[in-house]
Amino acid sequence: MKLRYIETEDCGAILEVASDWWGSNYSSDMFSKWFINHFRETCLLAEENGKMIGFIMGFLSQTKPDEAYIRIVMVDPAWRGKGVGRALYEKFFKNTEVLGRNTIRCVTAPRKKDSITFHARLGFSIEPQEQEIDGIPTCLNYDGRGGNRVVFKKLLHN
Ligand SMILES: CC(C)(COP(=O)(O)OP(=O)(O)OC[C@H]1O[C@@H](n2cnc3c(N)ncnc32)[C@H](O)[C@@H]1OP(=O)(O)O)[C@@H](O)C(=O)NCCC(=O)NCCS
Repeated sequence: MKLRYIETEDCGAILEVASDWWGSNYSSDMFSKWFINHFRETCLLAEENGKMIGFIMGFLSQTKPDEAYIRIVMVDPAWRGKGVGRALYEKFFKNTEVLGRNTIRCVTAPRKKDSITFHARLGFSIEPQEQEIDGIPTCLNYDGRGGNRVVFKKLLHN
């Protein structure tokens, strides 16, 4: 498996698979070309024999100088459970650490149990909230549009 930056030429291929790879509740506003244009160091693609098998898109926080945020990660369903997601996250951690970040944040929907397990395996903790859904601390109406989110945090170094 090779990891590299996402180039603008990859946009078409990503948009082609995103809905299938994400599953239900995919929304086309999850990312856009400006991500790749402006956040290159934190937008990475995994490929095998020249074929994209996964990608991650995130950015460094302008407001919180210690933090980076992971917006989205997807792995080809045929390649899941083989370490692709871990490899993408670990490369993201390395790149953001080099750029001076120690705190990594991301969120997921409470119904996405696979994603919750994945993030736990990658060393993320769940931020405490006033409410729990299915026993999982969950921020209600996270972004003001009604969606609930589990909020993750990971420190690269304590
Ligand atoms: C979540 C996702 C990115 C995981 O990618 P992946 O390549 O299958 O994950 P990996 O094989 O690298 O697994 C990393 C760890 O998470 C665990 N894990 C991954 N998927 C899991 C699952 N469905 N159930 C239980 N554990 C899981 C693995 O056991 C592994 O643990 P280990 O490395 O400590 O042994 C992938 O399932 C996906 O693309 N899902 C759809 C999109 C999505 O939900 N994205 C996340 C929300 S932003």
